[in-house]
Amino acid sequence: MMQYEKKITLAWTGASGAPYGLKLLECLLAQEFQVYLLISSAARVVLATEHGLKLPAGPDAAHKILVEYFQCEAHQLVVCGKEDWFSPVASGSAAPKQMVVCPCSASSVASIAYGMSDNLIERAADVVIKERGQLLLVVRETPFSTIHLENMHKLSQMGVTIMPAAPGFYHQPQSIEDLVDFMVARILDHLGVEHHLAKRWGYGNKIPE
Ligand SMILES: Cc1cc2nc3c(=O)[nH]c(=O)nc-3n(C[C@H](O)[C@H](O)[C@H](O)COP(=O)(O)O)c2cc1C
Repeated sequence: MMQYEKKITLAWTGASGAPYGLKLLECLLAQEFQVYLLISSAARVVLATEHGLKLPAGPDAAHKILVEYFQCEAHQLVVCGKEDWFSPVASGSAAPKQMVVCPCSASSVASIAYGMSDNLIERAADVVIKERGQLLLVVRETPFSTIHLENMHKLSQMGVTIMPAAPGFYHQPQSIEDLVDFMVARILDHLGVEHHLAKRWGYGNKIPE
C-alpha cells in the first residue's frame, strides 16, 4: 500500500463552483496528496445541481463513489463525516498544515471567522488557524455585503488567504474548463503544488498581434 507523505484538507461547502472543487481534488490526487475531504450538506446539493454528481450523506458511501469517480487508491482519499471529531483534521497535533475551502460559502466564512467549530469543516479551519498553518478560502458570492467583507477582512488579518472564485480572462479562455483551470491553477500556486494547468502571467504571455 502506497504511503502518502503529503497531506491536505479540502472542504467543499455550499457556494456555487462545484467544478472548482472537483478539479482541485483531481489535481491534488494526481500530485500524490492524501486528501482529507469534508463535504457540507449544502455542498452536496450544489454538486448535484451544478455537476449532476449525487453524493450520499454518509461518508463511507460518498467515499466509494468518489474513489470510483477519481480512480484513486481507496486510502488516498479520506472522506470525513461532519461530526467525526476523532478525525486527524480535528486535532492540532495531527491535522495537515494546509487546508482549502473550495468553494467556500459566505456562511462558512462567517462561521470560520468567529471560530464556531460547530461541525468538522469549521473545526478543521479553526485548527489550521490556531496552529498557524495555511488556510485558503475560495469564496464565492456576489455582491458581497458588508458582513461578508468584514468577515473576510477579519480572516485576512489573521493570515488566512481570501481567494475569490474570480477567474481572469487575459489568457483568452475558450471553454468553461479553461476558466476552472485558471482558478485551480492560482490555488495550486498558492499551495506550492506543481501543476500544468495555466501559465503564470509574465512567463511568455504576449499581447496578441
Ligand atoms: C445551488 C446553490 C448555490 C448556492 N450558491 C451560493 C454561493 O455562491 N455563495 C454562497 O455564499 N452561498 C450559496 N448558496 C447558499 C449556501 O449553500 C447556504 O448558505 C448554506 O447554508 C451554506 O452552508 P455551508 O457553508 O455549510 O455549506 C447556494 C445554495 C445552493 C443550493
